[in-house]
Amino acid sequence: CGIVGYIGQNDTKEILLKGLEKLEYRGYDSAGIATLNDNGVDVFKVKGRIATLREAVDENVHATMGIGHTRWATHGAPSELNAHPHQSTSGRFTIVHNGVIENYTDVQEDYLSGVELKSETDTEIIVQLIEVLYNQMDDVSAAFRKAVELLKGSYAIALIDAENADTIYVAKNKSPLLVGLGDDFNVVSSDSMAMLQVTDQFLELMDKEVVIVQRDGVEIQLLDGTKVEREPFTAELDASDIEKGTYPHFMLKEIDEQPLVMRKIIQEYQNEDNEIKLDPEIRKAMTDCDRIYIIAAGTSYHAGLIGKQFIEKFANIPVEVHVASEFSYNMPLLSEKPLFVYISQSGETADSRSVLVQTKELGHPALTITNVPGSTLSREADYTLHLHAGPEIAVASTKAYTAQMAVLAILAVDTAKAKGIELDFDPMQELAIVANAMEAMTDQKDLMEGLAKDFLSTTRNCFFIGRSIDYYVCLEGALKLKEISYIQAEGFAGGELKHGTIALIEEGTPVIALATQEPVNYSIRGNVQEVVARGANACVISMKGLEKKGDSFVLPQVHELMTPLVSVLPLQMVSYYAALHRDCDVDKPRNLAKSVTVE
Ligand code: G6P
Repeated sequence: CGIVGYIGQNDTKEILLKGLEKLEYRGYDSAGIATLNDNGVDVFKVKGRIATLREAVDENVHATMGIGHTRWATHGAPSELNAHPHQSTSGRFTIVHNGVIENYTDVQEDYLSGVELKSETDTEIIVQLIEVLYNQMDDVSAAFRKAVELLKGSYAIALIDAENADTIYVAKNKSPLLVGLGDDFNVVSSDSMAMLQVTDQFLELMDKEVVIVQRDGVEIQLLDGTKVEREPFTAELDASDIEKGTYPHFMLKEIDEQPLVMRKIIQEYQNEDNEIKLDPEIRKAMTDCDRIYIIAAGTSYHAGLIGKQFIEKFANIPVEVHVASEFSYNMPLLSEKPLFVYISQSGETADSRSVLVQTKELGHPALTITNVPGSTLSREADYTLHLHAGPEIAVASTKAYTAQMAVLAILAVDTAKAKGIELDFDPMQELAIVANAMEAMTDQKDLMEGLAKDFLSTTRNCFFIGRSIDYYVCLEGALKLKEISYIQAEGFAGGELKHGTIALIEEGTPVIALATQEPVNYSIRGNVQEVVARGANACVISMKGLEKKGDSFVLPQVHELMTPLVSVLPLQMVSYYAALHRDCDVDKPRNLAKSVTVE
C-alpha cells in the first residue's frame, strides 16, 4: 500500500491524487483521500484505481491539508468499505495505514470492547484505539504516541484530527515512510517519487518514531516524547524518469532501456584506468566471508540464482540462495563468517527486510543490492550496491533483473581479483557485448509478437524448459508470463520433466526451450524431442553457434555465463505481447503490487 499527506497553502486534492498515482505500483485495488477544512473532514474512497477515485472526488471541496492511500488488500477484501481512510466512531479521527497490525485482536479485546467496527480492516483498530485513548487522556499527541506504543507489527500511519487543521500525525515501524519538506508546506509519502512534484527534500524516519507535521515545521519525537533532530536528504530522481513518454506501457519502455542500463552500469562501476570501481569496504566484506547467503523474493530471487553461479565460478566462495519469506522457518546452519546479500529492486520488500533484521541481530554483515539507494534495505544494511537501472514502474520486473545480474557479475569478478584469482573474463567488455545483443533483440519486436501469437494466444498453460544456467532463466520466464498474462506457466529443468511433469503435455501444449549452453545443447534438444513426440508445440530459443534448423529464434552470441542477461529478453517480450493480445493490464496486473511491504 502507499500513503501520502499534504499540509500547506494550496488545494490538497490534486497533490494527493498525483502522489497516489505515483504510488499505484504499491497496490491498486482500492483508494481514498480525506481532506480537512473549516467545514470538517471530507472522505472520498472507491474500490479500484486512482483514476476512479479522481472521478469520485468532489471538485467543490477545497482544503489545504489531507491524507490519501492506495491499497493492496491484506485484511478484508478490496471494497469501498475496506478502502482507507478509516474513521473513528465519532468521526473526529481519520487515518491511512500501510502494513499489518499483528496484535489487532488483542487490541480489540483489551481496549475496544464497546466499539462497533465498520470495516474488516486492522487499520480501523488503530483509529478507534486513538479515539478511546484520547477520551481517557484528553491530549491527541499523547494518545497517538500511546496507541503507537501498543501496536505490534508493521505500520506507516498518517492521522488527522477534525478539531485541528494544523497538524498531521505520522508514525512508522518497519513500513517505509518519508516526510518531505517545503517552504510553507510539508508532505508525507511512502516514497520520494510520489512527492517529487512539490519537493526533493526529505526526512528519513526511523522505526518507532512519531512525527508532528505542520505547515511551518516538522517535529520528530520518540515514543516518550523526546525530540529528535535530523538533517534532510535530497532525492536524486529526475521527474521525467517516471513518465512513460511515447510508450504504450512502462514495461515495454523498461525492456527497451536494458541496453542503456548495461552501459550505465559499466560507466558507474569503472574508473579512468578501466578497473572495477567498488567500495573497498564491500570488497573486504566479500573476501572476509566464508559463505554468502543471498536473500530475495520474486524476480530478485531468480537473479540471485544466477549470482550464485558468478560468485562460485569466479570468486570461489560458496553461495546459498534463499527465498526471503521461507528463510526464517528453515534457517540453515550458518557458516562461521557469513555475509548476507539482500537483492531487492525496491529495497522495501518486507519479507527480505524481516530476514535482515534477524541477521543483523545475530551480528552478521549485510550487503544490499538495490535500485533504490535510500530504501529501507539499503539504509539498514552495512553496505549498498546500486543497480543504476532508473525507476522501474511496471509491476513485472525487467531491467532491474538484468541490472542485478550485471552488478552481481561485477561483484564476483572484483572479489576474484581481490583474492588473487586469475580470470579470463573482463566483465565490462562482456557487458558491452551484452548491451549490443540486447539492442539487436529489442529491434525485433515484430518477431516476438509473432511468437506470442503462434504459441500463446489461446493457451491456458505453458512450460519453459532449460538445463544448467538456462533453467534459472526459465523460472524467470515463467514468472513473467504468469504475472502479466495469467497463463499458468512453469519453468522446469529439462532433465526433470520426465519425472512427472511430462504427464501434462498434450496436443498443442506450448513448451518454450532455451538452448544457450554448449555442454547441454544435445540433452535439451533431446527433451524438446520428447515433448514434441507427445504433441507439444515447441519453441526453441537458441544461441548463435548452437542453433539448429527449425529454432524459433537465435540469440546473438555472448559469453556462456552472460546468456541469462540476453536470453531473458525474448521471454520478457513474448510475455508482454501475450498479455497485450489477451487484453490484460500489462503494467498493473491483477492482485499484484510492485513493492510488497507486508510479510
Ligand atoms: C513483488 C513484485 C515482484 C518482485 C518482488 C520482489 O512481488 O511483484 O515483481 O520481484 O516483489 O521485489 P523486490 O523489490 O524486493 O525486488
